[in-house]
Amino acid sequence: MLAIGSDHGGFELKTHVIRHLKEKGIEVRDFGCYDEASVDYPDIAEQVGNAVVSGACDRGILICGTGIGISIAANKIKGIRAAVCGDVYSAKMTKMHNDANILCLGGRVIGRELAFMIVDTWLETEYMGGRHAARLEKIKALELK
Ligand code: RB5
Repeated sequence: MLAIGSDHGGFELKTHVIRHLKEKGIEVRDFGCYDEASVDYPDIAEQVGNAVVSGACDRGILICGTGIGISIAANKIKGIRAAVCGDVYSAKMTKMHNDANILCLGGRVIGRELAFMIVDTWLETEYMGGRHAARLEKIKALELK
């Protein structure tokens, strides 16, 4: 199950990404927002982040205007590794090296076709482990300081 959420700045792109994911047969749980009324992105980041760390959902996508605010908020949750991606290379590398469990997109930055390519790349790429595992352990240690 994939958790997805956005603020008003990401609402439109979120509707397209949900449709795209459903067409691919991926189960999606939508944590809002549900229209273009203004909401605070940390509230949505919290819900999606908690769904991922609790195991209720195995990964998440968060969208705000830039992807930045919502990623900053999500990364405050222990166990979340949220990455803003505006290109396919970053989407691939953040799964391979960082095992990003939340992908963040900027609804006012990228077009829908690029968003679909980024989402597909992130979903299809495998985490490499190996030398990167020790770095993720160091990130985990930072959360405890
Ligand atoms: C909302 O206006 C906007 O600030 C938000 O969507 C996001 O871009 C913040 O980083």
